[in-house]
Amino acid sequence: MTQAPEAILLVGGKGTRLRPLTVRTPKPMVPAAGVPFLTHQLARARAAGVEHVVMATSYLAEVFEPYFGDGSDLGLHLEYVTEEEPLGTGGAIRNVAHRLHSGPDDPVLIFNGDILTGLDIPALVATHQESGADVSLHLSRVEDPRAFGLVPTDEAGRVLAFLEKPQTPEEIVTDQINAGAYVFRRSVIDTIPTGRPVSVERETFPGLLESGAHLQGMVDSTYWLDLGTPQAFVRGSADLVLGRAPSPAVPGRRGESLVLDGAHVAPDAKLSEGTVVGAGAHVGAGARITGSTLLDGAYVAEGAVITDSLIGAGARVGARTHVTGAVVGDGADAGADNELRDGLRLWCDAVLPDGGVRFSPDR
Ligand code: GTP
Repeated sequence: MTQAPEAILLVGGKGTRLRPLTVRTPKPMVPAAGVPFLTHQLARARAAGVEHVVMATSYLAEVFEPYFGDGSDLGLHLEYVTEEEPLGTGGAIRNVAHRLHSGPDDPVLIFNGDILTGLDIPALVATHQESGADVSLHLSRVEDPRAFGLVPTDEAGRVLAFLEKPQTPEEIVTDQINAGAYVFRRSVIDTIPTGRPVSVERETFPGLLESGAHLQGMVDSTYWLDLGTPQAFVRGSADLVLGRAPSPAVPGRRGESLVLDGAHVAPDAKLSEGTVVGAGAHVGAGARITGSTLLDGAYVAEGAVITDSLIGAGARVGARTHVTGAVVGDGADAGADNELRDGLRLWCDAVLPDGGVRFSPDR
C-alpha cells in the first residue's frame, strides 16, 4: 500500500433490534467494555494505518461529534456527514463521497458500525489490490447462516451471487456471509444513485454483479460478531473484556471483569466472565454478575443475580432479583425479588413493583 486508505463508517442506523438500549443512544455509542463501541472500531482502523475517517450519521447524529471531536485523541482525522433523511447503507456511502480525498482508482474502506471483528484490514486491502476488484468484501463463515445474506464465491474468491436469507436447507449453498467490511474502488462509490435510500446489500452489490463488475470475497475466519441484538452485544462486550475479541481500546487489563473508575463493588460480590461495571455503578453485597454489562450509574442491590444481561445507565436492579438474558433499559427500576429472563426488555424508565414478575411459582 503506497498511501493509507480512507475509511467510511456507517453509524446512522436506528438499531431497532437493540432497543431499548438504542432509544437514547445510537448503537455505535452504546458502551462495550467500558467505551462507546465505535471506539474499538476506530482504534482498530487506526492500528491498520487508516488516518482519515468519514462518519455517515443519521439517527441521533448529534452525539458523535461532541464525543470523538476531530479524532485527534485517537490519532485520526474524523469528519461527520449527517443525512437529513436516512439514506440506507448504500445511500449513506454515496452521501459522504465528497469528503474523500482518494483518486478514482484508490481503495476506500467501508465498515458497518456494529461489527466486532479481528479482521486483518490490510489483508482485505491487499486482496482488493491484487485481484483488481471493483469491490472486495470480508466474508465470515458461520455455523448457522440462516439469519444472514449468503455470498458464494468461486475457487479464486470471486463473488458468484448475493442470496437473501435462506429459507430452506437447499438454499444454504455456502456458509460464507457478508461480514460488513468492504473495500470499494473510489470510482464505484460515485456510481451509487444520490438523493434516495439505497441498500448496499440488496441493491448496490447485486446490481454491480449483474453489470459484470468484479466483486471479490476474502474469507477471514477470525473473531466476528454482529452486535445487533442485546444477546450479541453483551457477548461482544464480555469477549473484549476477556481478551477473546481484539481491540486496542479496552481500558485496563483483560480479565474476568472490568470495573470502571468511580464504581463501587461490595467486597463479597462476584463478577465473572467478562462482566463490566460502569463508572459510578454500584454492586451490592453478595450480588453475582456473570457475563453482563452494567452501564454507568447502574445500581444493583444486594443478592441480585445477573447473567448474560445488560443493565442500562442509571437503571436499578432490586435486592435478590434475577436477570438472565434480558435488558433493563436506561433509568428503569426492576424492583426487588423479580425474575427477568429470556429476551425480556424492560423499557427505559419503566418501574416494576417488588415481586411483580416471576417465572417460578414461589415468592
Ligand atoms: P437494526 O434496526 O436493528 O437492523 O439496526 P441498524 O439500523 O443498525 O441496521 P443494520 O444493522 O442493517 O445496519 C448496518 C450498518 O449500517 C449499521 O452500522 C448502521 O448504523 C448503518 N446504517 C443502516 N442504515 C443506515 C442509514 O440509513 N444511514 C446511515 N448513515 N447508516 C445506516
